[in-house]
Amino acid sequence: MADSKVSLDTISSLAKRRGFIFQSSEIYGGLASCWDFGPLGVELKDSVKDLWWKHVVRMRDDVVGMDSSILMHPDVWVASGHVGEFHDLLVDCLNCRARVRQDHLVNGKCPRCGGSEFTEPQRFQLMFKTQAGSTDTGKLDVWLRPETCQGIFVDFKLVQSVSRTKVPFGIAQIGKSFRNEVTTKSFIFRSREFEQMEMEFFVKPDTADEWYEHWREQRWNWYLNALGVKEENLRMEEHEQKNLAHYAKAAVDVIYNFPFGWQEIEGIHNRTDFDLKAHMEQSGKDLQYHDQETNEKYIPWVIETSAGVERSCLVAMIDAYDEDEIGGEKRTVMRFRPEVAPVKVAVFPLQKKAELQEVAKSLYMELKSQWSAQYDVSGNIGRRYRRQDEIGTPYCVTVDFETLDDKAVTIRERDTTEQVRIGLDNVKEWLFERLQ
Ligand code: GAP
Repeated sequence: MADSKVSLDTISSLAKRRGFIFQSSEIYGGLASCWDFGPLGVELKDSVKDLWWKHVVRMRDDVVGMDSSILMHPDVWVASGHVGEFHDLLVDCLNCRARVRQDHLVNGKCPRCGGSEFTEPQRFQLMFKTQAGSTDTGKLDVWLRPETCQGIFVDFKLVQSVSRTKVPFGIAQIGKSFRNEVTTKSFIFRSREFEQMEMEFFVKPDTADEWYEHWREQRWNWYLNALGVKEENLRMEEHEQKNLAHYAKAAVDVIYNFPFGWQEIEGIHNRTDFDLKAHMEQSGKDLQYHDQETNEKYIPWVIETSAGVERSCLVAMIDAYDEDEIGGEKRTVMRFRPEVAPVKVAVFPLQKKAELQEVAKSLYMELKSQWSAQYDVSGNIGRRYRRQDEIGTPYCVTVDFETLDDKAVTIRERDTTEQVRIGLDNVKEWLFERLQ
């Protein structure tokens, strides 16, 4: 499609039609900014999370994983600053009554009608509150976590001692976060329930700048080489000192060229010792790190990398979308990196004949034990290829009549549409080389 950009409508309708993403509770009219991931969406999400985990945790010796609970002691959110600071300032336009975030006014004017008179700003808490416990045992007001990283900070000492890790080291987790966002549009870009992939890297304070640079580079490379995003659609945007979050000394956003403009997909922050210090003060527990070699005790500084799963999925879909022509026929093709694609391989018997289906089914079962795979017998082969191209399946394997004699199959590659003949016994190995 060369340089022309795909629209968000095209992506969201493909996402719905092919079972990637639906509006939540659609039969009841939907719930704003909540989304359900369908059969292909959940595979895409899993691929993205797995690629993140592989590069941030599994392939490194200095990062371990964890999974903390969503509901936490309410004091966590007092210490983190969220109870006091995590709110938007909202104003009502006196002309059109639109409720707008004060920081979303355009040169002091209402973005909907251009009006310039507003009510006084009101604070709007962005955390969802709920209650734990029944009336019999007493209720406790608790919050749905708005970020996963606080679970890492409060368990820092435990994880460090059980995994016998030494500073510098990181703790990573992937999990749901909830924010009662005021502005909710642009499909899944900003939702009220989403998943984060966060990593907190604990370092000696005087090495924080080096590690900040290290993680900037690592995360940039992940988007290019693991998620497979085109470099021209990716940028790093440094925060100005005056715009830094209350906990940060330095921060950079990875931003992507969405159809609705350049927007953040990940934040990389030098959080200093803000969080551990705050939790030490609030809990009264000593969260200092004891360096056994030098006998020093100190509160480590933290470099954080914080990415959104849904935003990475949206980026993967937008970046992969393409249209071209095959034999004079227009096709839509999602050029996902094979590791990102929701379905890695599809198997087709050329016709519905029992002898072809028997071989194809057996190959399909073998491949399915390793990768997400589809089996398709309906329609002509051209149509089956188009269906797989549209969801980005990198390889389609066809079992034909010759297979019965030569024990070989045809594998067709999505991007080039080139076909190769491979022995049935070698299909798994052939795919293995290309899908890892
Ligand atoms: N712990 C730091 C933190 O949470 P953040 O910049 O507020 O930082 C990090 O969020 C990432 O989480 C964002 O870059 C984005 O990818 C994702 N994210 C945040 N709010 C989101 C929302 N409402 N919907 C979808 N993703 C969101």
